[in-house]
Amino acid sequence: MTDRELMEKAQKAREKAYCPYSSFAVGAALLTKSGRVYTGCNIENAAFGPTVCAERTAFFAAVAAGEREFAALAVLGGPADAPGRFTPPCGVCRQVMAEFCSPGFRILLGCPESFRSYSLEELMPLSFGADRLSE
Ligand code: THU
Repeated sequence: MTDRELMEKAQKAREKAYCPYSSFAVGAALLTKSGRVYTGCNIENAAFGPTVCAERTAFFAAVAAGEREFAALAVLGGPADAPGRFTPPCGVCRQVMAEFCSPGFRILLGCPESFRSYSLEELMPLSFGADRLSE
């Protein structure tokens, strides 16, 4: 699985976004260390609060399937009637990434034609993790 292919899977997943309130559609594709890919889209709710981002949809699908080892995540989003573009993950999704991923976990942001890879450490420095609970 190349980075470009992972981005294309995120683009495809974005087509499934349920975003009648924001009209902002996001897709994500999560690559496990074993080479499997789990995809997600944002799923909104009339009560707003229950809305879940594309990134967490992908993570929760993967964890529910028994996965715990992750290599990379591709994300793109934007107005639903326009092509996907650079969409940095929200803070809640970064915290979920910090729960399951090492500092070197790669996050690909942009669109299939042009994207950049960031490390989780870059996007979530000084994060709160399980190690803090036992210190
Ligand atoms: N959203 C995501 O799915 N991922 C992000 O990284 C940012 C925001 C969704 C949540 C909501 O459905 C819509 O985009 C507008 O905030």
